Amino acid sequence: MSERLTRLRAASKAHELDACLINEANNRRYLSGFTGSNGWLFITADSATLITDGRYIEQAGRECPGFAVIKIARGEDVEGFRRLLEPFLHKRVALESDQVTLEQWRRWFQPLEVDWAFTTGLVAGLRSQKEAGELAAIQAAAQLADATMAYAYTVAKPGMTEAELAWRLEVYLHEHGAHGPAFEIIVASGPNSALPHARPTERPIQAGEPLTIDLGARLPNGYHSDLTRTFCLGQPTSDTFHAVYQAVAAAHRHAAAHLRPGLTGAEADRLARAVIEQAGFGDKFVHSLGHGVGLAVHEQPSLGPQSQDVLQAGNVVTVEPGIYLPGWGGVRIEDLFFIRADGAQWLSHAQEIAVQHHDARTDHFHD
Ligand code: GLY
Ligand code: MN
Ligand code: MN
Repeated sequence: MSERLTRLRAASKAHELDACLINEANNRRYLSGFTGSNGWLFITADSATLITDGRYIEQAGRECPGFAVIKIARGEDVEGFRRLLEPFLHKRVALESDQVTLEQWRRWFQPLEVDWAFTTGLVAGLRSQKEAGELAAIQAAAQLADATMAYAYTVAKPGMTEAELAWRLEVYLHEHGAHGPAFEIIVASGPNSALPHARPTERPIQAGEPLTIDLGARLPNGYHSDLTRTFCLGQPTSDTFHAVYQAVAAAHRHAAAHLRPGLTGAEADRLARAVIEQAGFGDKFVHSLGHGVGLAVHEQPSLGPQSQDVLQAGNVVTVEPGIYLPGWGGVRIEDLFFIRADGAQWLSHAQEIAVQHHDARTDHFHD
């Protein structure tokens, strides 16, 4: 943690900040180790303080050995923050303006004669550069996602509902070391797969239609993975499946092969989008190419048409092109990559199967 504070202090100095108040949960955890639901970090050039309420004082002492812990009880918050910030009147203090509520601003911060600096992305920028231990944690989360997808290939059967399959995958994640799924698992069949973020329904999955499964693991240490596969149970019932699948797979391969440090998020997105446009589906790729993954399942850098984020060695990002045809369905393929000096290393290894074979004699599916 102290190395992370050193990096934050260097960034603060570059932005001419005298102190930073941090309350976003993952930023807080990243800098201090604190996993409670309520707390503020106050980081200056030579001090690190965690402010929390009575529920978390003992926990904070255990989790954040390098921090002074201050209790501010409910009802004493106006006075508590005034006392904390008294030495910083007329100094420049950062607030995470995308995290502080209007009510907190109005009650606690605005009345103080502090030279407030509204920051977004200060800690997120640090988090986007993964340390060796973080990479190992994400690799473990990716391996579990791979195993869960392999399990999905074996248990998915025609007639099973989307919700039932999603539940089985969630149980598998828990039984194999996850604290839970990284996000609500997406199992989207047939026309539902035209919705990029479909929620599992009671619809029975049918043979021959597209089936999109998007899942990730959330490990006890807080790190995530994110993986999508689309396939058919048995032979596809329309030729559209192969055309769409080939376009998405080609876009995915092309972007993955060209990811490298120095590329902007917009340039990375263009690599895949150009392939999908050439295939005639440009207007059906309705979301961004990808995003960073770590303590949050969506974090910096962003890979999308408008993103000026610059890929750096140490980033972990998804590549997830998709094509969505309303009324028919969709295809998305998503993998996780570690950006190295010489290109991108695949962190996910789930087998890609467009079609799950159907043995008509026994009416059993197998791979
Ligand atoms: N399911 C969230 C994502 O793939 O980004
Ligand atoms: Mn995903
Ligand atoms: Mn994703």
